[in-house]
Amino acid sequence: DYDATPYLPRRGGLPAHRRAAADCQGCPLFLEASGTVFGSGSASARIVLVGEQPGDQEDRAGEPFVGPAGHLLRKAMGEAGLDERQAYFTNAVKHFKFTLAERGKRRIHKPPSLRELTACRPWLTAELHLVDPDVVVALGATAGKALLGRSFRVTKDRGTLIPLPAGDRPRSPGSADGGKGLVVATLHPAAILRSTERETAYAGLVSDLGVAAEALR
Ligand code: URA
Ligand code: SF4
Repeated sequence: DYDATPYLPRRGGLPAHRRAAADCQGCPLFLEASGTVFGSGSASARIVLVGEQPGDQEDRAGEPFVGPAGHLLRKAMGEAGLDERQAYFTNAVKHFKFTLAERGKRRIHKPPSLRELTACRPWLTAELHLVDPDVVVALGATAGKALLGRSFRVTKDRGTLIPLPAGDRPRSPGSADGGKGLVVATLHPAAILRSTERETAYAGLVSDLGVAAEALR
């Protein structure tokens, strides 16, 4: 079945993983996208933000959260008292999945399947082990399911501190304090951009990010 595992390096830090991920063929999504969009940001970040998958602009740039959703997210982080320079940004799935609009060349985002999500998961696991953050923010349902399992529901689970499952904590007993290992789920910023109640949805994002900021104190 689809699986990124054979493409992961046996050792090395984030740069080695980023290089290896560029050649991942663990599922068919590598075929149509421009390239792998690996996570980016500080390797010593205390907070990791996990989205669904790169969008059109991220696919072109090769960097996560550089498009409209990323812009909204960074603004909300600032308002919640989170420093984006001390954060690590990534996605549950590392390749852009899309269909072409009937006319023209516009690429329309398609949600990843459970198989693709499962295939790509080893990259996220590796990132979480390497960065070892205190808090992980799950942006939307796909990230929530990737981190907390299939019973995750944004409406039910958002805005509260949930323990990060043991498999995502570093294996090394050397990191004795090993971070706090908490997850906070919230809405996906792209969903907020599409929302008819944008102000309310945005305020909810800032409030949930505030829970993450508080947990870092
Ligand atoms: N949406 C995501 O989930 N991730 C990105 O990197 C950009 C938009
Ligand atoms: Fe590999 Fe993930 Fe890309 Fe699939 S989406 S090819 S598993 S990096």
